[in-house]
Amino acid sequence: MKYSANLTALNGAEAVFVAIFEEGKLSATAEKFDHQGEISALIKCGEISGKIGETALLRQGSQRILLVGAGKQGEISERQFKQINQKAFQAIKGSAAKTLVNALTDVQIKGRDLYWAIRFAVETIDAENYVFDAFKSKKADTIKLEEIIFPVESEEANRAIQHASAVAFGVKSARDVANCPPNVCNPKYLAEQAKTLAKQTALIKTTVLGEKEMAELGMQAYLGVSQGAQNEAQLSVMEYKNHPNPDAKPIVLVGKGLTFDAGGISLKPAADMDEMKYDMCGAASVYGVMNALAQLQLPLNVIGVMAGCENLPDGNAYRPGDILTTMNGLTVEVLNTDAEGRLVLCDTLTYVERFEPECVIDIATLTGACVVALGQHNSGLVSTDDELAAQLFQASQQTQDKAWRLPLSEEYQEQLKSPFADLANIGGRWGGAITAGAFLSNFTKKYRWAHLDIAGTAWLQGANKGATGRPVGLLTQFLINQCQ
Ligand code: BES
Ligand code: MN
Ligand code: ZN
Repeated sequence: MKYSANLTALNGAEAVFVAIFEEGKLSATAEKFDHQGEISALIKCGEISGKIGETALLRQGSQRILLVGAGKQGEISERQFKQINQKAFQAIKGSAAKTLVNALTDVQIKGRDLYWAIRFAVETIDAENYVFDAFKSKKADTIKLEEIIFPVESEEANRAIQHASAVAFGVKSARDVANCPPNVCNPKYLAEQAKTLAKQTALIKTTVLGEKEMAELGMQAYLGVSQGAQNEAQLSVMEYKNHPNPDAKPIVLVGKGLTFDAGGISLKPAADMDEMKYDMCGAASVYGVMNALAQLQLPLNVIGVMAGCENLPDGNAYRPGDILTTMNGLTVEVLNTDAEGRLVLCDTLTYVERFEPECVIDIATLTGACVVALGQHNSGLVSTDDELAAQLFQASQQTQDKAWRLPLSEEYQEQLKSPFADLANIGGRWGGAITAGAFLSNFTKKYRWAHLDIAGTAWLQGANKGATGRPVGLLTQFLINQCQ
């Protein structure tokens, strides 16, 4: 989909979204199209009243005017604004119109300006338009709509469209790799995506480490997890360089890339195990952010790392009781082979020290406990740096790609004590999302660090099963904010 801004597009538009506020109040654009009182008449006869979620189609000559209930002007929330865009798009997407003017920019979202109205509209509609049918013999019908135009003209509007298109593209890129089945999307596949991205973008350079290189570096924890798998682990490093000072310290993003997590010898139950193909959504989000960056060309240095690996049981798999020596020298007693994400990440977090990072953010579908704590709406945020945590929280509020901080105080480290090694890989029953973060914090002492647990937010279950592309929006906004 193409997105643009043009004040004069309303004249002769093939289709238009027009807001109607509660109690039948006409928005400015509705007034314009109420030539002979057609819209007022529809309101009068009860066809639409302005409640959120309502739509009614009106034809004026060759133009399709979609009236959209928009609630009380000035009081609508971000979520409601997204809902009306979703509804409107669903109502029009089957039509023959190739271009559409979205005049829901008349709607004032509580506490937000035009920039955010356009950001939310573009990102919402683009996500709504997403289909993943790569593995269907019969493909989804292609929609006729090619361009959505906002009837405004300003620097602010152009910037919003540019930012939103890049975020939408990043989200789509993340969803595509994440939805891909685990017999196709394995660690090598992730590495191939990273290499292809570097071929497309001069600003990105990709290098890939295999198991031989990892062994030379002493990444025994990472390799321990991979030991039961046939597919080789691959650590993909995408270096984006566009800071005016080429020596500027990079922001490093590390994504958990378990392309399948069966739990290993501590095998998971069969129900819903297919969803563990999504255990690479951290890596997918890093890949998505790098794709967004390639479009935005922000003046930053950013390194995106995907820690690709599989966790499977076989005769050679690592065992509960095994003690692994990590790359930074700490030893870890494996008490549950299903707590594998932290083992893959701890060595990757040590590996990235070599980049002398400005800060490191890891993104991981790390714990079921995080979903118990926060549900499926907020990602868990754990950090040893209050400023970095505040910056990530701010980006999450701006984009409504929500995250909530969990405490990380010394007490939690005690839950990770082992009688035989420096650390155990699990911290007992309580506070599992925090003890997982506490485990990682032992490997992040050389830089500012934050951790996002996206176990609850990275994909949807049930009828709308599929990757969400979160937290590409949050992370891209964090990077945009770094430039201001
Ligand atoms: N990938 C899982 C976490 C997960 C579980 C994400 C369910 C989303 C939904 C992770 O590797 C894992 O298995 N974690 C264990 C840790 C436990 C053994 C301490 C968990 O959460 O049960
Ligand atoms: Mn696991
Ligand atoms: Zn896992």
